[in-house]
Amino acid sequence: MGIQFLATGSYLPGDVVTNEDLAQFLDTSDEWITTRTGIKTRHIAKGETTSDLAVEAARAALSGSGLDPEQIGLVICATVSPDISVPMIAAKVKRALGIENAAAFDLNANCSSFVYTTTTAYSLMQTCGYEYALVVGADTNSQIVDWTDRATCVLFGDGAGAAVLAKTDAPGILATHLDCIIDREDALHCANKLHKTPFFDPDTVETLRERPDKIQMKGSKVMKFAIRAFTESAKIVTQKAGVQIADIKAIVPHQANFRILTSAAKSLGVPLERFCVNIDRVANTSAGSVPTALDEAVRSGVIQRGDLVLLAAFGGGLSSGAVLLEW
Ligand code: ACO
Repeated sequence: MGIQFLATGSYLPGDVVTNEDLAQFLDTSDEWITTRTGIKTRHIAKGETTSDLAVEAARAALSGSGLDPEQIGLVICATVSPDISVPMIAAKVKRALGIENAAAFDLNANCSSFVYTTTTAYSLMQTCGYEYALVVGADTNSQIVDWTDRATCVLFGDGAGAAVLAKTDAPGILATHLDCIIDREDALHCANKLHKTPFFDPDTVETLRERPDKIQMKGSKVMKFAIRAFTESAKIVTQKAGVQIADIKAIVPHQANFRILTSAAKSLGVPLERFCVNIDRVANTSAGSVPTALDEAVRSGVIQRGDLVLLAAFGGGLSSGAVLLEW
């Protein structure tokens, strides 16, 4: 018995924002963004929320699976930028799609979320008997970036991806690995706003008043961690599964910076062509990053049944992880 990806789906909100559009209000240029990151455009939501994006990506994956909504036993949604916390986004997805008989919860491992979600679903399917699970990663990073900080806001976009996992006779998922090292230098940080209550005013405490509620990032520190964590995760899952990295047909990475991908490809000794890349068009969509790239690779025929596929991600925390599977 294996746990296999049955279908994928994704959703990007309608408005495409180019580097030139950003240069209208930021001291930046298409040349700087393209050469430093590989990003040309990103989708930015106008009125659509993270949970709206999650519903549409989940709808596409469920439709592709050919399953009835009642067959799904587990729904897990991952996000860094939830628009709702009660109910959780997974409950909104259940309700929108008429998934009556499923356990549901949200999960946040920042940009590593989709490998965490997939690993969690994989484990619960093995231990709790679920036949089918729906996993979703969605983010509206446009809500949590500081649009005056040119070093971070140009990197992010909005988007969502999803997948239906199924118990099958095929091998499916072969190995998983999750990690999180302590971020002692606050390389990636974003706090939720604290509200005044009848008992306490956060504005009376300087450290609370000045807590940044938009993403703050020490880019070069994150980049060094990302390359190391990506490479290590890939090596660990291939060792666990007893396969060679050279045999992997497609690597679906977290899309944070094209330079991270070229460095990771070099240190793994894998041709860059094996990497499924959409960062040029969608930028970093956090929890949506791996599943949108995966959906694109599946729909375009780059990934075929029987292929060895690696999903690998890293992000705030500092979290990282990988999933190795036979598609
Ligand atoms: N346009 C023009 N100039 C800029 C911009 C911009 N958008 N942003 C920064 N610069 C300037 C800086 O001010 C600096 O100028 P200075 O030399 O006069 O001080 C110069 O460009 C170089 O800046 P660096 O930060 O050294 O540039 P670097 O080559 O490191 O690239 C970047 C910065 C793109 C942020 C890179 O460090 C990176 O991608 N890091 C990893 C990001 C990442 O992986 N994030 C994951 C997030 S996952 C999650 O969980 C949220």
